[in-house]
Amino acid sequence: MKFLKLFFILSLLAVFTGFTTFDVWGPTGHRATGKIAENHLSKRAKRKIDELLQGESLAFVSTHADQIKSDKKYNEFYSWHYVNMPLDGDYETAEKNPQGDLVTGINYCVKVLKDEKSSKEDKRFYLKMLVHLVGDLHQPMHIGQKEDKGGNTIQVQWFKKGTNLHRVWDENMIEEWNMSYLELASNAKDLSKEQIKAIQKGSVLDWVKDTHQITQKVYGSVEVGEDLRYRYSYEYFPVVREQLQKGGLRLAKILNEIFC
Ligand code: ADE
Ligand code: ZN
Ligand code: ZN
Repeated sequence: MKFLKLFFILSLLAVFTGFTTFDVWGPTGHRATGKIAENHLSKRAKRKIDELLQGESLAFVSTHADQIKSDKKYNEFYSWHYVNMPLDGDYETAEKNPQGDLVTGINYCVKVLKDEKSSKEDKRFYLKMLVHLVGDLHQPMHIGQKEDKGGNTIQVQWFKKGTNLHRVWDENMIEEWNMSYLELASNAKDLSKEQIKAIQKGSVLDWVKDTHQITQKVYGSVEVGEDLRYRYSYEYFPVVREQLQKGGLRLAKILNEIFC
């Protein structure tokens, strides 16, 4: 009986510490990116998107792709949330996941949205996916190494609590900052038109390369088992904020092109 109790408690602990699950760029991060994108939509794009989403905002729909993960019906989309490549490699030369990845996922969403023959229902679904995936593309650990599942198996501590490197970047830093997605969006850096254009320039593959430069630094930022605290946030939370902003601006660029 005692053993059964112990087993039960340990199982609960495992679930609550995220020991057994893979993590997701938390809802706050995705919503901030959605809100920043909304702030940079053309009038025409905004109108067409409002009509398609029937009043739901980009921030609101940004987490849909994570919500459907628990439904087996949507298993085929699981591998779209990330792409793996060696630290010194690039997307072009990396081994491809036959199930699809972030890049093929984003391209598929764009294709459906541009196709006049797509149904409203499909367009709505793939727009929600796209908003989410462009966010994931800017989380450096979503384009990490295959062998450690994008840092999911690199155990560290966050203020003495067990976590992993992937989760630190998905959630721990953002949660510790304790700002709402609206506050994160409205406190995004003031950028000139030229700076915004420079960020929006290029293709999805250019943006993968851009994020991957950060990925390389993140892998070198911790020792396995290290207890990360304020100093880590102090150094890397500005990077998280910049990534949320880049994600929003680039999502707006894609959407303005689709809904022109
Ligand atoms: N989430 C689940 N598997 C992953 C992987 N291999 N890389 C990044 N994120 C992931
Ligand atoms: Zn994640
Ligand atoms: Zn995701």
